[in-house]
Amino acid sequence: MTEPESQSLATEAQNLATGMRTHYCGEVGAGLVGERVSVCGWADRRREHGEHLAFVDLRDHTGVIQCVVDERIDVRSEYVLQITGVVRERPEGTVNENLLTGAVEIGDCEVEVLSRAEPPPFSLHGDTEEATRLRYRYIDLRSERMQGNLRTRAKVNASFRASMEAQGFLEVETPMLIASTPEGARDFVVPSRLHQGRFYALPQSPQLFKQLCMVGGVDRYYQIARCLRDEDLRADRQFEFMQLDIEASFVTQDDIIAFVSAAVADATEAVVGESLGEIPTITWREAMERFGTDKPDMSFGMELVELTELFSQTEAKVFQASCIKGFCVSEGAQLGRNRIDDLTKKTQEWGAKGLAWFRVGDGGELDGALSRFMSEDEQAGVLATLGGKAGDLLLLVADERPLVNRVLGQLRLEVGRPGNSSGNDLVSGGVRDLYYVWVVDFPLFEGISDEGIPIPAHHPFTMVHPDDLEMLTELKKTELEKTAAGGDAVSTSSYSHMDITAIRSKAYDLVLNGWELGSGSVRINDPTLQQQVFTLLGIPEDEAKERFGFLLDAFRYGVPPHAGFAIGIDRLVAILLGEDTIREVIAYPKTQSGADLLTGAPSHITPRHLQELSLRPNLG
Ligand code: AMO
Repeated sequence: MTEPESQSLATEAQNLATGMRTHYCGEVGAGLVGERVSVCGWADRRREHGEHLAFVDLRDHTGVIQCVVDERIDVRSEYVLQITGVVRERPEGTVNENLLTGAVEIGDCEVEVLSRAEPPPFSLHGDTEEATRLRYRYIDLRSERMQGNLRTRAKVNASFRASMEAQGFLEVETPMLIASTPEGARDFVVPSRLHQGRFYALPQSPQLFKQLCMVGGVDRYYQIARCLRDEDLRADRQFEFMQLDIEASFVTQDDIIAFVSAAVADATEAVVGESLGEIPTITWREAMERFGTDKPDMSFGMELVELTELFSQTEAKVFQASCIKGFCVSEGAQLGRNRIDDLTKKTQEWGAKGLAWFRVGDGGELDGALSRFMSEDEQAGVLATLGGKAGDLLLLVADERPLVNRVLGQLRLEVGRPGNSSGNDLVSGGVRDLYYVWVVDFPLFEGISDEGIPIPAHHPFTMVHPDDLEMLTELKKTELEKTAAGGDAVSTSSYSHMDITAIRSKAYDLVLNGWELGSGSVRINDPTLQQQVFTLLGIPEDEAKERFGFLLDAFRYGVPPHAGFAIGIDRLVAILLGEDTIREVIAYPKTQSGADLLTGAPSHITPRHLQELSLRPNLG
């Protein structure tokens, strides 16, 4: 534990005496010299000095205090003890500068063993593989790292709550056993005993209920909500996760951005101790063009630069493409040939035909296998546009625009993300600079599925950008014509005359250091438009009625204009702490394969239980 952290824990712990302890271990400092104290906790280490003298370091969540015991005791690592004695200064030369309590010790100790412990399966003082830590999470939680992480998480939650209350939001709890929600992931389901053959879904988010709260006049809703999604797990994804979920009526997109920015600023300040400046905003289109992704990591430069025009007359075959872009890696000429070959291989794996690369020579000239196919103007143009100086490396990709942006975006992260080469792009021993950015004007659809149906970028209740309603109508016409011509589904080519991502929505994301932290939107509150969007998404009227009928019904009875947002709390806490997976900030997470190593879930249930639920598992 770092000094300032333990200091603050000790301060928070003041006046928390109980019938068994007068102080926490971390509180025992020079100010208590001469006082008789009782501390409780776990034996962190024990050192013998002859038969009748032992040093026991006692640990609780606030820190460690050295206790000197002048009698023969049977104490082993992780025994639970109550130690009572008198605080005294440590003898000269034995002061431990690294410990907050290192100037003092407790002497004349009486030791009461409150609970014995078997030798722990791993030491809290070394590195242990994650599976073992998760199997014995209750021991792992005793570590400084996990204690710190849990407490930071609680601080973020408390700060969110205070911020939302201060902004006039009402906390409303929504149910866990519900009908399906529309976030696009797979539902976890719960079989009903009383309605055999039927299932509840667990909420992927409180989305529909919070919108119903708006119909119900709640006006400003928030909840620290548990969400469940049956999706593949990754460093930033768990089946169960927590959101700060909000919804408000009679508001604009800017209002929601202001509410959330304030909450995030409060939480960040509570953890980092520094106030956050204003969070910048960029449009989705700009994010794609400048960073090649809708989750730009703004903690470093290397922005993608347009070169298409420069090559409009080119003789070089590789640059005869509809889009050419590139970026400059400052001082990148020192990258070895192996690394550049590795980058080329990666760009090919990501879908590009290849990577064009040039070192900038000492005389400021382009140095690369492809330069001899380029005209002098082209060479000078690339250098000038990318801002290449002697010693730099220039990386270019030519292809269709979306592919160029995506591949260069990935390449930018690969080459430029701080610490990527060391395999840890977050921090070592502190909080890395925090780069928040709002990304607005997301497209309504992110593309076309193989079945020829537009894929929604957000959930289907997202409002179309008012300036793009006409494009939506055109899209609808295309679909109707196709259906009239006898096609069941609209084929991909029906949309080829337009860029479907050009239709913008009133959806926005908050991004932090390249992670999607949260997202939200203004909602559709016009039933006709809603029906139009359902149709485009290939959701037939009867299916829409079955899945979301209750919401559509509610909208018939007076629905205010409303908008909302949800922040992933696990992700925020992980980034604030510099952890590279959210498992480190969740008390009891699942492994990558979805197992709970501590309790053995998922597990079998008894035949009797199965029968009650009229379930017959296919064990084949
Ligand atoms: P969305 O689905 O984008 O939006 O989720 C919002 C945020 O929740 C976090 N998140 C996750 N965190 C951990 N594990 C997961 N499996 C996981 N899935 C999502 C992310 C994400 O940005 N109802 C809408 C919000 C709205 O429109 O108001 C929603 O849930 O940080």
